[in-house]
Amino acid sequence: MKTLIIYGTKSGASEECAKLLSQLIEDSRIANVEVEQPELADFERVIVGAGVRNDKMYKPIRDYLKKQEAHLLTKELACFLCHSKPKTTEEVIVASIPEGVRQGAVEIMAFGGYKPNWVPVSPANKLKGIDQEKIAEFVSKLS
Ligand SMILES: Cc1cc2nc3c(=O)[nH]c(=O)nc-3n(C[C@H](O)[C@H](O)[C@H](O)COP(=O)(O)O)c2cc1C
Repeated sequence: MKTLIIYGTKSGASEECAKLLSQLIEDSRIANVEVEQPELADFERVIVGAGVRNDKMYKPIRDYLKKQEAHLLTKELACFLCHSKPKTTEEVIVASIPEGVRQGAVEIMAFGGYKPNWVPVSPANKLKGIDQEKIAEFVSKLS
């Protein structure tokens, strides 16, 4: 199934997750939402993810979810977030993802992320704090 993985990142964790997802999902491609927003008509499945600051996913992804909500809901849709305070995951999701997307998504999952004092993260440590088992579990929920 042709899959778009579109992400927003500031320190790179969400980009690493997008790359790991694309390795696990056949016929997928990744796009940084601030660089390109590929034509959704070209995809049957869309995965939308971003990092979190101040208890919200990044604004370019929040804006994208709002603007594209109706079109996204015609696809198989799933969302992920990268953050360092797992106890806040539910409130971040409610504050960041429109209700219709929350209801329509097949899965919404947090993959961990970098603690603020790890940033900037050296190239050798790009996967630190990222829960790769969660990423595999997320992929298993897709059709
Ligand atoms: C300035 C700053 C603020 C942050 N605020 C939060 C926060 O409010 N809640 C949280 O769970 N994580 C917070 N984090 C951790 C980030 O969500 C984490 O570093 C994540 O990996 C960011 O995603 P990115 O690397 O794709 O940009 C913060 C990190 C920084 C550097």
